[in-house]
Amino acid sequence: MDWYEDLSLWSGFSAVLFSPQRERQAADVVATSPLLAFPPGTRVLDQCCGVGVYTVPLARHGYRTTGVDLHPELLERAGLVCAEAKVEAAFVQADVREYVAPDAFDVVLNMYTSFGYFEDPEENLQVLRNACASLAPGGQLIVDLLSKETYASWVGPPKIVDVPGGMVVMRDHILDDWSRYRTDWTLVRGNTAEHSSLTCWVYSATELRAMFEQAGFENVECFGDWDGRPYDGGATRLIVRGSKAPSA
Ligand SMILES: C[S@@+](CC[C@H](N)C(=O)[O-])C[C@H]1O[C@@H](n2cnc3c(N)ncnc32)[C@H](O)[C@@H]1O
Repeated sequence: MDWYEDLSLWSGFSAVLFSPQRERQAADVVATSPLLAFPPGTRVLDQCCGVGVYTVPLARHGYRTTGVDLHPELLERAGLVCAEAKVEAAFVQADVREYVAPDAFDVVLNMYTSFGYFEDPEENLQVLRNACASLAPGGQLIVDLLSKETYASWVGPPKIVDVPGGMVVMRDHILDDWSRYRTDWTLVRGNTAEHSSLTCWVYSATELRAMFEQAGFENVECFGDWDGRPYDGGATRLIVRGSKAPSA
């Protein structure tokens, strides 16, 4: 089994990955970011939506939102949150390497470093190609991740995050001359410790821009945070946006 297919990683570490603090931040980003300001009724696809940290506020904001994820258990949780919030969103269980809905969306989002998971570089490119095929002409793809440049200022000694009833220790390892990284997670609760590891490609802005162009996007731009600041020394994350060509 590849690491991203292991549900226990996503659910075991959900106190960090899908925390109430992240839900509040995502709601704030959706409400205020100029990069996420779309006309009401915009059709949005949330690739790798998980438990709907972004899907729910996007739907609440009036966008016609669909979340896609590999794990039905996470989608079920997202559906419950939607029901509680009295908002409607569609959820599809699928692998993003395969999911294509031709011309069905105006915007495709891939949020919170949900990109670069597949060992074969061609499969990561396929995720961008599928996004392009799923967009209507003129539609846009936005990918948000921890880039090579932003990761470089963050990686270092192990980090400890408190979670309800315990703590998570995270250790990062840079692999293959900064091509990829591995993060080892240990969840400590009482006398028990659970371990998991994830290995991802890490991209510079230039590398991800080139992949967008290879996948068929034009007008590719990079931003350093959700306020739309430039991708420079003050960037806290990498957000890449590209457009599918308008119809002739
Ligand atoms: C870091 S989480 C981010 C989730 C969400 N975007 C967020 O902001 O909370 C990555 C998500 O990618 C999903 N995922 C991993 N591999 C996938 C695949 N091959 N196809 C679809 N989803 C996948 C996982 O199940 C997980 O929910």
